[in-house]
This record gives sequence, structure tokens and C-alpha cells, in this order.
Amino acid sequence: MSTPNFFSTQNSVQAAADVREAAMKNPGFGSVFSSNMASARYTAADGWHDGKIVPYAPLTIPPSALVFHYAQEIFEGLKVYSREDGGISLFRPDANARRFVKSAERLAMAPLPEEVFLESVEKLALIDKDWIPKERGSSLYLRPVMFASQSVLGVKPSTEYSYYVLACPVGNYFKDGDSGISLWVSENYSRAGIGGTGEAKCGGNYAASLAAQAEAQRQGCDQVVFLDSREKTWVEELGGMNIFFVFKDGSIQTPPLGGTILPGVTRDSVLKLAAKLGIEAREELYSIEQWEADAKSGKLVEAFACGTAAVITSIRHVKRANSEFTIGSGKAGDTTLKLKNALLDIQSGKAEDPFGWVK
Ligand code: COI
Repeated sequence: MSTPNFFSTQNSVQAAADVREAAMKNPGFGSVFSSNMASARYTAADGWHDGKIVPYAPLTIPPSALVFHYAQEIFEGLKVYSREDGGISLFRPDANARRFVKSAERLAMAPLPEEVFLESVEKLALIDKDWIPKERGSSLYLRPVMFASQSVLGVKPSTEYSYYVLACPVGNYFKDGDSGISLWVSENYSRAGIGGTGEAKCGGNYAASLAAQAEAQRQGCDQVVFLDSREKTWVEELGGMNIFFVFKDGSIQTPPLGGTILPGVTRDSVLKLAAKLGIEAREELYSIEQWEADAKSGKLVEAFACGTAAVITSIRHVKRANSEFTIGSGKAGDTTLKLKNALLDIQSGKAEDPFGWVK
């Protein structure tokens, strides 16, 4: 890691060790936050400035800030790992920095320079390194977020933005993720449309997924899976993660990026890892009808969700309005586990990183 000087650290704090240890025992996902946070501000007159690492604390924001009215907001998710050699590492922070710029451009926001993004996450990770859990599969999740802070009600891009990075120790995103998750196929709702914001990591996409996710939960399922908005035919992605299919011939497949799907860093890592492991990987459309038929005939043997939070989580069952199907044996299959372990080994420093992903 290299940490230049945009973010001052003079006011950062050290947490009492017992508070931290208690919080890290059973971290779950995203409810316990570390001692510090990074912050920076943008104004049209001064550009990005005032970068600092400060104690984690509530904010004071006027209710007239643009974000509360027109949802100009973007975020990221990336993880810091404890390495087997005692060091710490970030996984592909450069990919998140690039996507943050792209999301800002789509939402007509002031892009945060990639080097400023990188310095903020590196400095916060170093200062709060005692918050990084050591168990395999656990990590310190970083949540960069940027929002429109100008106080005005005209519908236009803000001239002021606030940027923060929060950190929280996390374990599994899904409580019972190790035994696989169940999906509900949404036919009433869409996540994104052509020309919309589907490929940006903005809060609005997640807000739009919540009614469908609530429907999934009413159906007894863990996650919603969305189909394309036009034909209601092609599988796109889950409420908060990408999806892969695994076939009996050993190949894997994921829906292609076409503007409506989030270009996941884990999705991209799986495609590259597969090539390295000699697994044939395709980015191709896959219909819900074909998925059901292939699962029932045994042509499709595994499926998994992937994302920074979800890592690689096996999918065991899929429920639709008028039918349902189980995937393979209903347990995590060999290919899913092989890819998950290969990814975790690189992230934890247990295996060589032939891609230069670990920073
Ligand atoms: C992530 O995987 O980092 C996300 O932002 C997804 C969200 C469901 C936590």
C-alpha cells in the first residue's frame, strides 16, 4: 500500500481494545463500525479538498441537501484482509476506484480522482487495522459513499458533494450462506432498464430492489433474482450480487454486461480465475425457462451468487410463481467450492496472486 497526503490523520482515534474485541466476535454484516472514517468535500470553487481521517461520528446535513430529494448518491464495497504472513491487503481497490468514477459520471456527480479514492481506503485500512478479523472468510468491509450535499431544490446536478469511507468487520453476508441460498424469481418488478442506471453502483438501484426483495422473503427465499425488464425472459442479477451457472460439462456462464447489470469486481475476478483454472467461462444470455429445464434435466449442476459482500455463495433452490426447482444436490458443488477457495486463497495471501490483484 502507498499512502500519500490528501487525507490528514491527526484527529483519528484508537478504539478501546475490549470494545473492538466484543464487536468483532460475531460481526455479521454491516452493523458494527470501526473507530474512524475518511471524509472529503467537493465544491465547484475548490474542487476536492479537506481530506481527513476522523473518529466515526454522526453527520449534520440540512434536510434541503439534494441527495434527500433527487437521490444523487453512489457507493462502493471492498474488503481488507488479514494475510497469513501477518500483513494486511486490499483486494483490487483500483477496480473499485474506476467504477466509482464511472458511477459518478452516470449520476452527473463530480468524480473523485482515483488516487484520492485509493489513498482514503488505504489510510483508513492502516489506521483501523486492528479491526480486521483474522478468520478465513472474514474481513474488514470498506464502504466508500458520496452524495450531493448542496442545499437547493432545483432538479440539477449538485455543485457540492461529501465523500466518506466507513469500515466494518464482517463475516458471512447470508446468515446460513454456507448451506446455500434460495432465490425468488421476480416477475412483477424490474431492477434496471436499457439506458437506466443499472450498471452504476448507486443507492437508487438498491432502493428499487427492496419491494422485490420483500416479496422474496414473503415467499421464504433469501434473495430476489431479476429478469430483463423488456422480455421478462433473461436472467440478469440478484438484488445485490451477480450470478453464475455451472454445467455438467464443467463450463460456467454468467449474463453479459449490457448496461443493466452491475459490472461486479468479484464477477470479473471469477471470469479471470476460471480461465486460469482451465474452466471454460462464457458471458451469454440464459433464460429462466432454460435454467429451469437444465436444472431439471441435470444439464445444470450448480449455480452461485457472487459479490464483494456475498463472496461466492451457492444457490440451492429457485422458486417461481408457478413452479420451483432445486439445483444439483442442493449443496455447494465442486466448481463453486474450487472457485471460492481459489479466490479466498489469493485474498488471504495463502496462494500466489498471478493477477496483481492484492495491494
Ligand atoms: C457489495 O457486495 O459490496 C455490495 O455492495 C452489495 C450489497 C448487497 C452489500
